[in-house]
Amino acid sequence: MAKISPSVLTADFLELKNQLKIFEECGVDMLHMDVMDGIFVPNISFGAPIIEKVKKHTSIPMDVHLMIDRPHRYIDMFAKSADILGFHFEAGSDVAETLKQIKAHGIRSCLTIKPCTEPEEIFEFLPLCDMVLVMSVEPGFGGQKFMPSALDKLKKLRAEIERRGLSCLLEVDGGINKEAAPLAVAAGADVLVAGSYVFDSSDIKKTVREIRAL
Ligand code: DX5
Ligand code: ZN
Repeated sequence: MAKISPSVLTADFLELKNQLKIFEECGVDMLHMDVMDGIFVPNISFGAPIIEKVKKHTSIPMDVHLMIDRPHRYIDMFAKSADILGFHFEAGSDVAETLKQIKAHGIRSCLTIKPCTEPEEIFEFLPLCDMVLVMSVEPGFGGQKFMPSALDKLKKLRAEIERRGLSCLLEVDGGINKEAAPLAVAAGADVLVAGSYVFDSSDIKKTVREIRAL
């Protein structure tokens, strides 16, 4: 069974309280929170105060995806509300030190790669990762088309995780829908981030259940 992490980036925030109840009813595994600074990606979303508010209304673990420049500067701030805290390999922080900084807060760490990064570049950091996130779109916006090049990256990371006997989860983010989800799971993904596919659907509960059944 695949884990699902709905991305609230495309949610109607005024509806979110009711949608969180629906997510809890259908056993959503995590809630994906996209933090963008307008520098690392060409878009601005929300920051720690919003995540802290959302967290007060739900028991679903917060899966925080930092798309910000030099993220080590903000780890301590986001660690207050994140259950899994991820940042980009390409964002200009010391990767090993930042992963350790996250784990020192007693929360789970996640390292994320953009489509331009090859999986082999992060192999050395896998022992410090509780999760690796493979972007299947250019980070910055919801509603983009799934890039099939992510599948090979997932396969390579899955093979390396198995080879070393690590318990690191593998997450994929961007363009997940009913066509892309089974391909990502077959390539080794454990956790599927889904934004527009979930929030734009007419029956959120049914959509979540379909994806989790994979
Ligand atoms: C994009 C974000 C994604 C986005 C996914 O930069 O990281 O999490 O919300 O949205 P969809 O599922 O619509 O591609
Ligand atoms: Zn994301």
